[in-house]
Amino acid sequence: MKILVTGGLGYIGSHTVIALQEKGHEVVIIDNLLNSSIDVLDNITKISGIKPTYENVDIREKDELAKFMDNHLDISGVIHFAAFKAVGESVAKPLDYYENNVAALVYLLREMNKLNSPKFIFSSSCTVYGQAEKLPITEDAPVQKANSPYGNTKQIDEEVIQDHIISGADIQAISLRYFNPIGAHPTALIGELPLGVPQNLVPFVTQTAAGKREKLSVFGGDYPTEDGTCIRDYIHVMDLAEVHVVALEKLLEEDYTTKFDVYNVGTGKGNSVLDVVKTFEEVNDLKLPYAIVDRRPGDVISAYADTTKVEEGLNWKAQRTMADALKDAWAWEQKQS
Ligand code: NAD
Ligand code: WQD
Repeated sequence: MKILVTGGLGYIGSHTVIALQEKGHEVVIIDNLLNSSIDVLDNITKISGIKPTYENVDIREKDELAKFMDNHLDISGVIHFAAFKAVGESVAKPLDYYENNVAALVYLLREMNKLNSPKFIFSSSCTVYGQAEKLPITEDAPVQKANSPYGNTKQIDEEVIQDHIISGADIQAISLRYFNPIGAHPTALIGELPLGVPQNLVPFVTQTAAGKREKLSVFGGDYPTEDGTCIRDYIHVMDLAEVHVVALEKLLEEDYTTKFDVYNVGTGKGNSVLDVVKTFEEVNDLKLPYAIVDRRPGDVISAYADTTKVEEGLNWKAQRTMADALKDAWAWEQKQS
C-alpha cells in the first residue's frame, strides 16, 4: 500500500516510516524541514535499505499540496504528523499554531477528497485530558479546557476530523492520543532533534549527561505523589511508531467499518521524574547532576494511560521498557555533536 506520511522526517514520523517499510508498505514523505533535517532521509535509507519518496511540501501552501496530491492519487492512507508541538511557543505564537495545526489539517483533508476512500491516522495527545480525575486515563475521560493553544489545536483537530466524517466524507480515521514518547531507534541513526534548549524531560536529561547542560532542573518536588515529582507514561518511540502501522492496517481491513475512533497510546505504567533520573543513571552507568526547583506552571500532576482499549481493539501492547528507551536515547545523544 502507498502511504503518505506528513512530517515524516520528524521525530515520530521518521520512526514510523521505518515501521511502515518493515511491513512492506511504500512510503511517500512530505516535510518542509522546519523542524527536521534532510539527513534523516539518508539515515532512514541506511536502516531499512529502502529510500522513501520525499517531497519538500509545506502543507500550509494549498497549491503546493494540491499539486502533490494530483501526482499521487493512488495513496491508500495518510499518517499526519506535520505540526508544531512546543507548548510554550504556542502561547507566544498562537496564530502560527492554529495555522499549521488546524488550517493545514483542513487543507489536507480537502485534498484527500481526491483519493479513493483513504484511511487517516492523526497524531493527538494525552494533553487533551488535562489533569484527569481518574487514573489510569481511559478514552472516555472528559476532554478538558486546554491550557495552551497547542493543546487546543489537538482538541479542535479531533473535532474537525469528526465533523468532516459526519458530513459524509468518504474517509475512515483513527486518532492516537500519545502519552510521552521518548528514546530513539536502536541503531542510533534517527532520534529526537530538539531545537535550542529542550523543553521535554528526556532530551534535557541526555544533554545534561553529555555536558551540554549544567544540571537538570526537576520541576517540583512537593507534588502529592510517592516521591513528590510528577508522574508520566513514557513510551518508546519505536513502540509508538509500530502502533501507527497496526492502526492503519486495521482501517485497511475490508470488514472494518468504524468511521472514527480514538485510542490512548502509552505503556499503562506511570513513572516519576526521579524514576526517569534513577533509571537513566542505572542503565547507562553514569551520574546525572540535578536539583529540585519550583513547579513548572501548567504541569499536570499525574497522567498515564489505561491501555485496555488499544490492547483489545488493535491487539497491540508496548513491548519495550523505559530502561530500553533511556538506553537508546543516550546512544543517540552520544552521536550528536
Ligand atoms: P517533529 O517536530 O519532530 O516532527 C514534525 C515534522 O513535521 C517536522 O519534521 C517538521 O519539519 C514537519 N512540519 C511541520 N510543519 C509542517 C508543514 N507545514 N508542512 C510540512 N511539514 C511540516 O514532531 P514529533 O515529535 O515527531 O511530533 C509529531 C506529531 O505528534 C505532531 O503532530 C505532534 O503534535 C504530535 N505529538 C507529539 C508528541 C511528542 O511528545 N513528541 C506528543 C503527542 C503528540
Ligand atoms: C515530563 C515531566 C515535567 C523538563 C509535553 C506536552 C504534551 C506532549 C508531551 C505533545 C514533567 C518534568 C521536564 C525538565 C522536568 N506533547 N520536567 N525538568 O509536560 O508531560 O508533556 O510533552 O503533545 O502536550 O505538554 O512532557 O517531557 O515536558 O515533562 O522536571 O527540564 O518532566 O515537569 O513532570 P509533558 P515533558
